[in-house]
Amino acid sequence: MKFVKDLKRTDYCGKLSAANVGQKVVVMGWVDVRRDHGNLVFIDLRDREGIVQVVLDPNKADTAASKNLRGEFVIAVEGVVRARPDGMKNTKIKTGEIEIEATRCEILNESAVPPFQAGDDNVNEMLRLKYRYLDLRTPRLQYHLMTRHKVAQLVRRFLSENGFLEVETPILYKSTPEGARDYLVPSRVNQGTFYALPQSPQTLKQLLMISGYDRYFQIARCFRDEDLRADRQPEFSQIDMEMSFIDQEDIMAMNEKLLRTIWKEIKGIDVGAIPRMTFQEAMDRYGNDKPDTRFGMEIKDLASVVTGSGFKVFDDVLARKGIVRGIAVPKGGTFSRGQFDKLTDIAKRGGAKGLVWIKNEADGSFASPVSKFFSPEKLAEIFAATGAEKGDAALIVADDFDTACASLSTLRMHLGKELNLIDNKSYKFLWVVDFPLLEYSPDEKRWVARHHPFTSPRDDFFEDLLGNNEEAYGKILAKAYDLVCNGYEMGGGSIRIYRNEIQQAMFKLLGMSKEETQSKFGYFLEALQYGTPPHGGIAWGLDRLVMLLCETDAIREVIAFPKTAKASDLMAECPSEVSREQLAEVGVRLSPLAEKALEEAKKV
Ligand code: AMO
Ligand code: AMP
Repeated sequence: MKFVKDLKRTDYCGKLSAANVGQKVVVMGWVDVRRDHGNLVFIDLRDREGIVQVVLDPNKADTAASKNLRGEFVIAVEGVVRARPDGMKNTKIKTGEIEIEATRCEILNESAVPPFQAGDDNVNEMLRLKYRYLDLRTPRLQYHLMTRHKVAQLVRRFLSENGFLEVETPILYKSTPEGARDYLVPSRVNQGTFYALPQSPQTLKQLLMISGYDRYFQIARCFRDEDLRADRQPEFSQIDMEMSFIDQEDIMAMNEKLLRTIWKEIKGIDVGAIPRMTFQEAMDRYGNDKPDTRFGMEIKDLASVVTGSGFKVFDDVLARKGIVRGIAVPKGGTFSRGQFDKLTDIAKRGGAKGLVWIKNEADGSFASPVSKFFSPEKLAEIFAATGAEKGDAALIVADDFDTACASLSTLRMHLGKELNLIDNKSYKFLWVVDFPLLEYSPDEKRWVARHHPFTSPRDDFFEDLLGNNEEAYGKILAKAYDLVCNGYEMGGGSIRIYRNEIQQAMFKLLGMSKEETQSKFGYFLEALQYGTPPHGGIAWGLDRLVMLLCETDAIREVIAFPKTAKASDLMAECPSEVSREQLAEVGVRLSPLAEKALEEAKKV
């Protein structure tokens, strides 16, 4: 092996085309595939931009290295670009019309046999995450990261052109609550104290408004210790922004403009007008505050049809101020008992106590496990009230509002996918507005902020916020808005409270004592006293945005080095144990429970 100092790369493999025919080029990259025809060797040479075919004569001294090449070897090839003979052209790749006839081939580095072939879809994801740097060689992931790069550049350009200043805010900071647990970092210098990694730069961007910067943005890293899902990572990036002297309409208009620019430039798609829906309407029609509006199957209220029907399950729920609602399943009339059992399980996983189904069979009759409780006419009436038609099925859940909505929404999404009702190529955007400001947490036995505690109520609800009437709290609407796409919450923001006494009242309402408020947010409350302009903002999930643009359904697909659902990095094997000395330095000792967990982990 030798290093080739006299060869200088002239082109990317994937960028060569018929326009280069006749030119002498030097390309460098990885051996993707090698085909040996005895007196000729064909190599698919790969770099960031794509693949080019190289033809080498193993019998010539300058290209004899081709005899020893294996997959993932790093090589340099000098040669002449020529048109492929007719019949040998490959329309599947960008460089398919040409090939390089090599005059020289040098091995720059060998590769051990990789644990899997890049691009092999059958490889277990755990293995691919352990060797993430190899998986990142696949065109799919390269496309994802390049798209992410383009989006980041475009966002910077757009916001900068619209008067936003990019400002970095600290990572070692103090708790900024967004509803998750904090990641803590012990301080060595100030023993016994901790930094919290920001769940978002929320208070910091508001402080920048107080400082008079007027329009701020940042592609900000956020950290949240919460249950992970396909669209959640413990650290993720936000396109975070804040504006002064504006109202909700200004922020929504600015962000619609940004959304249009992104979809136009990245996808070539004109995003039309973006519809708006109140939180209440989204819950009523879809059972969900981030509805996937690419398909129908909307939820229908059946209370007026079933009231007084004598079926105890429904009557009891309605008497307790619960709801009875249902959806129609297109062509569900042919579903088997087993299929309905499966749907019942799904409804129960969503919290429902059961699921009533009614199906319209081929002979026009209705079948249902509850048919004995209703007259045939009533059964047909309930069926029709869900919007179901001939040959369809109806699914009905009776429960408290939240549970019934959650179950029906889960059923709707499940069936939408299973019955192929979703056009995977389309994008359906939606603003969800008029969120409740507060929700009651039965676990914590207190009111919690739905968005975050800095969100302003709508002007018509200030009195309810400042009054002591708990009955009214649940009805207060917020100046909050979410940008939803295809069932994902892509972004969310709000107009902020900007008066000190209202912010204090908010903390009090959330059950925080004066002392707790002071220790957590004293600095912020103090700042609010020194001339705070009216302001508001929003943050987009950059990872979710890129995920949608790349038409994939997991954000780890668009993050270079993602973590697993257990928040670990399989490649670097972290989080990992640290030495006792290091712990002592930062003034931390492990609990007996943690010691035991470490012992257990070592056994496996
Ligand atoms: P919010 O908590 O709604 O608002 O977050 C904004 C957006 O960030 C994305 N997001 C996530 N993406 C990946 N993994 C996660 N764990 C994760 N959590 C959130 C979502 C979400 O819409 N400070 C406020 C914004 C504001 O009020 O201006 C905030 O953080 O796409
Ligand atoms: P039961 O009277 O409990 O045997 O229930 C009769 C039928 O009603 C069964 O098909 C149950 O799955 C269904 N069911 C029970 N509770 C509910 C509910 N809360 N909502 C919808 N269906 C229910």
